[in-house]
Amino acid sequence: MIKAITGIKDILPSEIPSWSHLEEAIHSVFKNYNYKEIRTPVFEETTLFSRGIGEETDIVGKEMYTFTDRSGTSVTLKPEMTAAVVRAYVEHSLGKQQPLNKLYYISPMFRQERPQAGRLRQFHQFGGEAIGSSSPLLDVEMIDIAYNILNNLGLKDILVKINSLGIPGSRERYKEELRNYLAEKKEMLSEDSRRRFDKNILRIFDSKIDNDQNLLKDAPLILDYLDDESKSDFDMVQSMLERLNIPFEIDQRLVRGLDYYTKTTFEIISGSVGSQNALCGGGRYDLLIEQLGGEPTPGVGFAAGIERILLACENENVLNLPEDKIDVYFVLLDNELKIEAFELVHNLRSAGFKVDLDYMDRSVKAQMREANKYSSRFVIFIGGEEYASGKMNVKNMQDGNQFIMPLGNSEELIKWLVEVK
Ligand code: HAM
Repeated sequence: MIKAITGIKDILPSEIPSWSHLEEAIHSVFKNYNYKEIRTPVFEETTLFSRGIGEETDIVGKEMYTFTDRSGTSVTLKPEMTAAVVRAYVEHSLGKQQPLNKLYYISPMFRQERPQAGRLRQFHQFGGEAIGSSSPLLDVEMIDIAYNILNNLGLKDILVKINSLGIPGSRERYKEELRNYLAEKKEMLSEDSRRRFDKNILRIFDSKIDNDQNLLKDAPLILDYLDDESKSDFDMVQSMLERLNIPFEIDQRLVRGLDYYTKTTFEIISGSVGSQNALCGGGRYDLLIEQLGGEPTPGVGFAAGIERILLACENENVLNLPEDKIDVYFVLLDNELKIEAFELVHNLRSAGFKVDLDYMDRSVKAQMREANKYSSRFVIFIGGEEYASGKMNVKNMQDGNQFIMPLGNSEELIKWLVEVK
C-alpha cells in the first residue's frame, strides 16, 4: 500500500470543521486590521530563500526541499512566506501603489525537520507582513493580531515573549561580547553549539542541552547593547502592549531561527503542546527588502503554525464547534421511488437547503440511521399509502411533529421549510 510521506499529513473530513473555524477567524481578524490577502507560488528559486533567510540557518542548511527542475534551475518548496512576500512586493512594485502594504496569508510550508508532535514536514502557516513603515506601533499591531486570534479561539495557556535584536552594528558588538564570554567555555559546549559558536553564535541560546544553558547562565544580555533607536522603539512596544492589556514577558534569549530580523522579535508560546511550543513567531526585518533587490524599505511580520494551534485547542479543549447538521434527509419506503425523490432533492438543494438521500438501496431502518447520523432537522418519507394518494410525510425531528404534504409540489414544500426553519 502506498502511504503518505513521513511527516506529511492528510487533513481528514472530521478535522475540517476546526480548520475552517480557525481560517474564518484569521480572515475576519486580518480584515478588521485592514490587511489584504496575498497568495504566492508553492515554489521559488532557491536563492530567494538562501539569501533571504540566511545561509547559516537550520532552515537553509538542512531543512529545505530543494531540487533541480528540467531546465536546470534550482527550486525550493517554500519553507516560510516572508521572503516570498518580499519577492512579490519588489517584483510587482507594490510600494509604488501605496507606501504601506499590509498583507496576510494562509499557506502550506515545507521543511524537512524530524517529525514529532507539532512538527511536520508539510505544515500550514498564517501570518501577516506590513511593509513600508518603521513605526513600532506596527510591531505591536502584529503581536495584537496574533494574540487576538489565539485569544478568540479560547486559548488560555499562552505567553507572549518579546525581545529586541537591535540593528546590525549593535548586534555585532553584542555578538563580540558573547563570543568573548563563551570563548573559554567553548570546549564544554555541545557539538551543535560549538558549530553555532563559529557560524551563528546567537542561536546557541536555542540549545535544548542543559549544560549549554548552564554555561550561558551569566552570558551578557543583548538589551544592554542596543542602539538608541532600537531601545526607544522597544520601550514604545512595551508601553503600548501594557496599554492594550496584552500580557508579555521580555526574553533576552529569544533570537529566532531566521537571519533577517532587526529590532523587535517576538513569539507566543503555549504551555499545552509539549516541546514544540512556539505557536507563532515574528519580528522586524528592516534590511530584507533591499537585500532582496528592492528599495530600502522597513518591514515587520509574524507567522503562526496552524497544526500547533489546533493541537493547543484540542489539548485545552476549547473548540466546541456546533454539530454540522443537514436540513432534510429523504427516506424512501420503496427504492423504486428514488427517481422522483431525486428531483425533489435537486429542487430543495437549488433553493439553498442542505439535503441528502440514500444511494445504496438500503433498508428503511438503515436510511433512518443515516438521517440520525447527519442530525437531519427534517425527514421526508416517500412511499406507502400516502404516496398512492400523491402525498408525502414530513417529520420535524426536533419536536417529532409530522405533516402530510402534497408530493410533486416542491414550491409549497420550500415555502413551508423557509417558514419553519
Ligand atoms: P518561524 O518561527 O520559522 O517563523 O515559523 C513560524 C511558526 O510556524 C512557528 O512558530 C510554528 O508555529 C510554525 N512552524 C514552524 N515550523 C514548523 C513545523 N516543522 N511544523 C509545524 N509548524 C511549524 C517564520 O516562518 C517567519 N517567516 C515568521 C515571520 C513573518 N517573521 C516575520 N514575518
